[in-house]
Amino acid sequence: MSQQHSPSGSPLTEAAVATVAAPRRDWWRDAVIYQVYPRSFADSNGDGMGDLEGVRSRLPYLRDLGVDAVWLSPFYASPQADAGYDVADYRAVDPMFGNLLDADALIRDAHELGLRIIVDLVPNHSSDQHEWFRRAVAEGPGSPLRDRYHFRPGKGKNGELPPNDWESIFGGPAWTRVTEPDGTPGEWYLHLFAPEQPDFNWEHPAVGDEFRSILRFWLDMGVDGFRIDVAHGLVKADGLPDLGTHDQLKLLGNDVMPFFDQDGVHEVYRQWRQILDEYSGDRIFVAEAWTPTVERTALYVRPDELHQAFNFQYLGTDWDAKELRTVIDRTLESMRPVGAPATWVLSNHDVTRHATRFANPPGLGTQIRTAGDRALGLRRARAATLLMLALPGSAYVYQGEELGLPDVVDLPDEVRQDPAYFRGEGQDGFRDGCRVPIPWTRAGSSYGFGAGGSWLPQPAGWGDLSVEAQTGVPGSTLELYRSALSARRSQPDLGAGDAVEWLRAPEGVLAFRRGEFVCVANTGGEAVATPAYGRLLLASGEITEADGEAKVPADTTVWWTTG
Ligand code: GLC
Repeated sequence: MSQQHSPSGSPLTEAAVATVAAPRRDWWRDAVIYQVYPRSFADSNGDGMGDLEGVRSRLPYLRDLGVDAVWLSPFYASPQADAGYDVADYRAVDPMFGNLLDADALIRDAHELGLRIIVDLVPNHSSDQHEWFRRAVAEGPGSPLRDRYHFRPGKGKNGELPPNDWESIFGGPAWTRVTEPDGTPGEWYLHLFAPEQPDFNWEHPAVGDEFRSILRFWLDMGVDGFRIDVAHGLVKADGLPDLGTHDQLKLLGNDVMPFFDQDGVHEVYRQWRQILDEYSGDRIFVAEAWTPTVERTALYVRPDELHQAFNFQYLGTDWDAKELRTVIDRTLESMRPVGAPATWVLSNHDVTRHATRFANPPGLGTQIRTAGDRALGLRRARAATLLMLALPGSAYVYQGEELGLPDVVDLPDEVRQDPAYFRGEGQDGFRDGCRVPIPWTRAGSSYGFGAGGSWLPQPAGWGDLSVEAQTGVPGSTLELYRSALSARRSQPDLGAGDAVEWLRAPEGVLAFRRGEFVCVANTGGEAVATPAYGRLLLASGEITEADGEAKVPADTTVWWTTG
């Protein structure tokens, strides 16, 4: 008998509304964590900018989607030189996002719905408007507050050259010279990112004290964990040595740099872990640590340090069976000795959305400026998501990917806000394209994002991708995500464990078993025949089954259960 299955055409589609699992220990080992970018999620007051009350109003959507936790990008008081990753007051909510009472209400409501809340902590640098930095500049050379940052005299006859040759991740020198209180050009300060983001000096005890106190502040507010921004950057090599080369950005992520991934950072996290463990409730840390290898990333998640680290090697892998298998194996192998779960991620607020990455030829990196073949990109993105959600460990989903949103590649220059765009030559620069406010409704003001437009313009046709347009539509990307997340809850072999059993598969195809669960991902350009491994659970595209064999089209992932 031949049977046609529509995408996501399993009984799970009907059971899309996930039930909230009872809290259990180590929830994070196989959790699906949804990243909310507060500026662009939901705007409750019609000022064109998303806010905490907007997030709170949409929590039921996230519960129904079936995620376990929500990570919120920074919403603290900030001049927004880098969209909130430049924090002026770590214990205050920026008025554009609301206030502390809104944060409290959001945390409480989330907990009532069975969702956990992870907040973003930015310890590598503050805003140049942080009180410590403002005073450090205002008080002039010799101010004790300068020791909390990296102030140095310049080189050259009149101190007109930067203290060393480090370059900013966003392009240009990593040093800016201040004007001293008497009006003369004075010392320089270090900023690995924008000049508005001076790096803290983590050798100074006040810095550590302050961050331990900030941790407690948010733990007392009830948060379930922290995403640590630039977790690999806190400690700099002694003496801030020159790198001796230009074009340093090419080295990033491939080499240990004197400003990244220094062994000293681990001591900071050991101390933080002790604080976290004083609190009840199984709370976690996740590191944003761009290191040269997954093996070095594993050092951040040793048992007495952090719980998870983003797997950027996976994010950077092309849609290619061989490369994917290599990175999956290497990830699982490096996490096993430290006992931490692997994590998987395809998109976030710093990279071109995976629907657009996969629409373009491989090898273009994560800041892509061309739309590519959108249908191809979406097909692959759906398949890549099902593959990711079939792997053991925890997975991260970035807001809007469940709608299959592409990057907005044609934003006019005058609306762009990414500071890296304006510095040129930097690593990033096209991050606004993944930050466009998401569509909730087919039509209406900013497609349901808010009542007053949106801080970045939404493209025409955005409404067709909205939550409203996709809800209950069989085969829609939103229903595919819901079905997949629901299946993760009902199939014990999904998510758990630390290994996959690879099955023989044609070239371009990944096939693996995990207990009673089998996943086949065809990354090639042609349909392939594989055994129909059991009862069809879910597929990212149209598949045909006949006489125990399945025909899996190009760029399609299938899940079966033998149970
Ligand atoms: C992290 C953030 C990014 C920010 C940078 C500087 O990489 O994810 O958005 O620009 O840190 O804080």
